[in-house]
Amino acid sequence: MSEELNRISLTIPENLLDQLDEVLEKKDYSSRSEAIRDALRDFLTDYRWKEELKGKQRGVVVMVYDYDVKGLNKKLLDIQHEERDLIKSVQHLHVGRHECMEAIIANGLGERIRDLTDSLKSLDGVKQVKLAVVGR
Ligand code: NI
Repeated sequence: MSEELNRISLTIPENLLDQLDEVLEKKDYSSRSEAIRDALRDFLTDYRWKEELKGKQRGVVVMVYDYDVKGLNKKLLDIQHEERDLIKSVQHLHVGRHECMEAIIANGLGERIRDLTDSLKSLDGVKQVKLAVVGR
């Protein structure tokens, strides 16, 4: 049984589109739509998984950001100091001329680790945030 398809239009930065096309070339995607559908499924799976995080958990939040974005460093520090009982360790790596990577090790309630991840993700200048939770 085939699913009914709906058409939507999408506005994305050129750089992101270039990266998508590079992946299309390397993988066996027949169209951009197919690749975006796959990415959207991953996004939704990830979203549901995070919504279900409950109880004591431990994990690592890895993020990449542009330290040149005005006010970003202060916001990152504010968030990390607010969550100092949740955050056990922070590893900082200078990965590019203006790019930093941080691995934040957290131990505490899953909901709080999820909220921390979401608040970092929402900041202007934060390019990527990934959360990995490991079993107890
Ligand atoms: Ni740095």
